[in-house]
Amino acid sequence: MNLDKQLKFNIQEETEQYLAGIRLVHRLAFHADGEAEVVDRLRENCPVFISLVAKIGEKVLGHVLFTPARLIKNQGWSIEGLGLGPLAVLPEYQKLGIGTGLCVEGLTRAALAGYPFVVVIGDSAYYPRFGFKKASTFGIRCAYEDVPDEAFMIKILKPKRMTDVEGVVYYRQEFDSVS
Ligand SMILES: CC(C)(COP(=O)(O)OP(=O)(O)OC[C@H]1O[C@@H](n2cnc3c(N)ncnc32)[C@H](O)[C@@H]1OP(=O)(O)O)[C@@H](O)C(=O)NCCC(=O)NCCS
Repeated sequence: MNLDKQLKFNIQEETEQYLAGIRLVHRLAFHADGEAEVVDRLRENCPVFISLVAKIGEKVLGHVLFTPARLIKNQGWSIEGLGLGPLAVLPEYQKLGIGTGLCVEGLTRAALAGYPFVVVIGDSAYYPRFGFKKASTFGIRCAYEDVPDEAFMIKILKPKRMTDVEGVVYYRQEFDSVS
């Protein structure tokens, strides 16, 4: 497909009419059903979330979800932030800025909502462009022990609330089924 690099797309919160399109984006981007299913379960179960679609007209091209993640500090108390993911863009629309647009908009909304941090498990070549840093440099680990050190990253949104934050981040249990 010959697509203009200056693709014009809109980003907005998900609504009912885009749910099928969101499922399709995850299935095609991940070549599997797991992420689409976990998005549906998180939508049903999470008290709060940020779910954004990128679209042209009514066609969904990309989707990102942010759901609660809890940092349990070594001293025993916890602080609530968000986990970014899954993030996916239709294969034929990748590398056109859609993933970037979704991440930037979601992180802006997370900051406006007052969340102190966002974590992500992902490619260390992709997420640092949004201000993510290796979480272990802050003494923060992921509860999933099989996640490589460089793949677990954090973006601090409220530095004053994020001092002495050594501890472990727990994602929603709905993620447990996604390998
Ligand atoms: C990862 C993904 C969401 C990125 O979305 P996108 O719209 O293609 O990305 P953008 O156009 O905003 O950014 C493109 C840039 O990111 C880079 N990039 C894209 N995917 C990358 C990846 N997995 N690792 C490293 N770099 C990546 C591109 O090379 C490009 O770099 P450049 O700006 O230096 O040229 C998309 O490729 C995708 O859906 N992949 C399959 C599902 C997936 O892996 N999701 C992420 C799970 S962590």
